[in-house]
Amino acid sequence: MADFGYDVADYCDVDPIFGTLADLDRLVVAAHDRGVRVLLDWVPNHTSDQHDWFVESRSARENPKRDWYIWRDPAPGGGPPNNWVGAFLKGPAWTFDQATGQYYLHLFLPQQPDLNWDNPEVVAAMHDVLRFWLDRGVDGFRVDVVHGIGKDATFPDDPADLVARRVHHSSINDTEVSHELIRGLRRVVDAYPGDRVLVGEVYLLDTTKVARYYGQGDELHLAFNFPPLYTPWDAPQWRHRIVEADTEFEPIDAWPTWVLSNHDNVRHRTRYGTEARARAAAVLLLTLRGTPFLYQGEELGLENAVIPPDRVVDPGGRDGSRAPIPWTREPPHGWPGAGPWLPFPPQPGTNSAEVRRDDPASILHVYRRLLAARAASPALQLGSLRLLDTPDGVVGYERSLQSGGDDDRRVVLVNFVAEPVDVTEQSEQTEHGRLVVDLASDGAGEGRPFSGRLGPDQAVILRPSQLC
Ligand code: GLC
Repeated sequence: MADFGYDVADYCDVDPIFGTLADLDRLVVAAHDRGVRVLLDWVPNHTSDQHDWFVESRSARENPKRDWYIWRDPAPGGGPPNNWVGAFLKGPAWTFDQATGQYYLHLFLPQQPDLNWDNPEVVAAMHDVLRFWLDRGVDGFRVDVVHGIGKDATFPDDPADLVARRVHHSSINDTEVSHELIRGLRRVVDAYPGDRVLVGEVYLLDTTKVARYYGQGDELHLAFNFPPLYTPWDAPQWRHRIVEADTEFEPIDAWPTWVLSNHDNVRHRTRYGTEARARAAAVLLLTLRGTPFLYQGEELGLENAVIPPDRVVDPGGRDGSRAPIPWTREPPHGWPGAGPWLPFPPQPGTNSAEVRRDDPASILHVYRRLLAARAASPALQLGSLRLLDTPDGVVGYERSLQSGGDDDRRVVLVNFVAEPVDVTEQSEQTEHGRLVVDLASDGAGEGRPFSGRLGPDQAVILRPSQLC
């Protein structure tokens, strides 16, 4: 738990603080009974320093598992073998082992030694780990820092300017070797029946590079594309991200992903500043072309928690977005006994699942209506995307899909400014009759003809009236 589970000591078991393997088996069956698939977060780049493999590896240079990790002699003048920076602590990505006189590599914390994927025994052992879980019926994996697993065999220094800015090596590690290794993972998964999926965390903030991790349809099924997550609430910048995704993913037949929040970043409700924007952002997330990823709690409009210094637990500074869900209105908000491990996000009563559920005007119900709107529209699920000419401050697009004589269309308009905007012209660009408000981020006018005016930070989904 040095990195809250991203330091695995046993790949084929469940940490007792969460339960047992039998519990997991029951969870998978119960989810499947409800039509829900289960993906596990698989961490192939590194283990815990308490994993038996590493305990053996560090025990002696002659140990058969020595080469399962990346050990190097000190640089000629002493010190780490190269200048790579580790994530979180921003110190060297190498730690010296006094007993055996060598450094081991860790792109993250010293407690997270990197596996040596150049060793075929490691590849085979890790493929067996995938099979262990696939055999138990899991539907796939979110593959942690998957672009990190292949290393340049010459271990060259990183550019000095990046090192001076403490840019950690894991955010720039991008080698051909990883692609070859990912093709191997894909073959393991593809050998199983049913739809099993590999979703890769490719933490390279460059959409062109991310797209390459889909290979020729023989690498990842889906790769997280994080640049939009780092994009502020600004129409031109978002338009750029949408065009970029289309340009990079569509020609290679790769299916995009969209993420606004996760356990490593400040929640978008906090980054964007207001609930109105968080609601409009949800419309973007669930109507752009691709697979949306929702982070627990965003459907309640949760903000980052404020963590007092004496409650900090994560060396990576990410506690604020990992604060617990307030389930009920009254304290302890569904967390009896010792209470949760981190403080609650602001206004836990108002933002509790209980209160949001009981209020049909709440953000939770915007998410529910969005999911229903998506489920009801083949165009929103699978259709093409065409950007519309929109006034400054507004992003608009049409999603459409023709199949078997059926023509399904939706127009999405998102106002990124805190003033009303007239979009009469845009709502007429589709020439498909009058448009009706299918969904509005603030609920206004749903089911009625579109007025041609967007409210401040409002987003709408419009549908042709003949489809009513
Ligand atoms: C990924 C995870 C992050 C973790 C890191 C190291 O970036 O999302 O939470 O700390 O990998 O495993």
